[in-house]
Amino acid sequence: MAEQLWKGRFSKAVDSRVNDFNSSIRFDQRMIAQDMRGSGVHAAMLAKQGIISEKDCEDILNGLASIADDLAAGRLEIDPNAEDVHTFVEQTLTARIGDAGKRLHTGRSRNDQVALDIRLTLRDYSHTLQAYIVELIKVICKKAGENTTAVMPGYTHLQRAQPITFGHALMAYASMLLRDLQRFEDATARMDAQCPLGSGALAGTTYPLDRQFTAEKLGFAAPCANSLDGVSDRDFCIELANAISICMMHLSRLSEEIILWCSWEFKFIELDDAFTTGSSIMPQKKNPDVTELIRGKTGRVYGDLNTLLVMMKGIPLAYNKDMQEDKEAIFDAVDTLELCLKTVTPMLDTMRTIPANMRRAAAKGFINATDCADYLTKKGMPFRDAYKLTGCMVSDCIAKDKTLEELTLDEFKGYSALFENDIYDAIDLVKCCEGRTSYGGPSEASVNNQIALANAQLDAW
Ligand code: ARG
Repeated sequence: MAEQLWKGRFSKAVDSRVNDFNSSIRFDQRMIAQDMRGSGVHAAMLAKQGIISEKDCEDILNGLASIADDLAAGRLEIDPNAEDVHTFVEQTLTARIGDAGKRLHTGRSRNDQVALDIRLTLRDYSHTLQAYIVELIKVICKKAGENTTAVMPGYTHLQRAQPITFGHALMAYASMLLRDLQRFEDATARMDAQCPLGSGALAGTTYPLDRQFTAEKLGFAAPCANSLDGVSDRDFCIELANAISICMMHLSRLSEEIILWCSWEFKFIELDDAFTTGSSIMPQKKNPDVTELIRGKTGRVYGDLNTLLVMMKGIPLAYNKDMQEDKEAIFDAVDTLELCLKTVTPMLDTMRTIPANMRRAAAKGFINATDCADYLTKKGMPFRDAYKLTGCMVSDCIAKDKTLEELTLDEFKGYSALFENDIYDAIDLVKCCEGRTSYGGPSEASVNNQIALANAQLDAW
């Protein structure tokens, strides 16, 4: 068993079961690059302040570089028995450079060290996730651009409601994902605002640290204002988990739509064979497993967010070991979203749309009834009366198994003398959709504008 950093006051070795239980190396080793970066900056600051010698600092920096090289080249393996990544780095360094390695931890605790490492790691992950979201939005915009005239029913309560286009529906998801990008940016900006390094275990230190220097070198706006808060703040994990959860919620809604759209009941789209799976018994099956998994994994990510919230709610100042649980939860949320984004983007890119089926569905369900009522209203009938009359017409049509546009002009006139031949244009599905030129609406021009706005936001990202 690897030795603990803290063994001085103990008369016995720690029980191996406690060591396994306590150890976080399994899941914190992924922060090793960030841990070493923080250590390098800490050492440089210690030397600048005259707390350690320039020679020690040089040895530490060279030692850290040699560890990084050896890890990259596969010459060094992370010891799975080390208590945590911080222990592993310090002990490996000390084995290589001797006493200078033992001076690295001067004026520092693993408590401020881990608070820094998670921030540095999540900052990188946030940028990676944002890049994947940008790719997804680009694909959505591309698909939307190809489907600005594909009229389909828009739904409320999953009942056919009013005509929209497939492009319009897709751009709704682009809007959600653009807000997700902002949420990531916002969470990351707050994460980058305050550097915890120099908070010590909880109460700062008597060494003349230059916290401004370390904060700046590590890309933070300032050192955190309160050392107790510095070591025990995990808001930033929760904020990122929140942004991830909301993004997963959006992917899950899109997935649910895709599941519906590719069913035989809808058949608005066909997923590429490479992004579907079959059944071991039913030869005809082509299942949208990817989207179902995204929907399922959304619950798992909500669980991660909940883990963090519940973990933090009852712990007193300052650091408590409960907080070691933060990493598995937030890393799982990050990994899950990354996996989903990596898969859903090419799946959407390769999906085939079937506008004829969308159009067929649009013809059923009286989605032009509002336009019929609007026609009468524009001719002078009060909207509420027009609404009622159109409702009666729909009911009659249902009884006769007809659509509104199948009524003859005489039949229309039988309901109201206001009806003229131009009613057919007014309730034509394509024209109904095209006529919805209001800002944000489904007309081709409006959706093209939505695409242009989204692309402009992406360009500025
Ligand atoms: N592995 C610990 C964590 O992830 C590092 C901090 C340990 N600090 C301590 N005082 N035990 O939280």
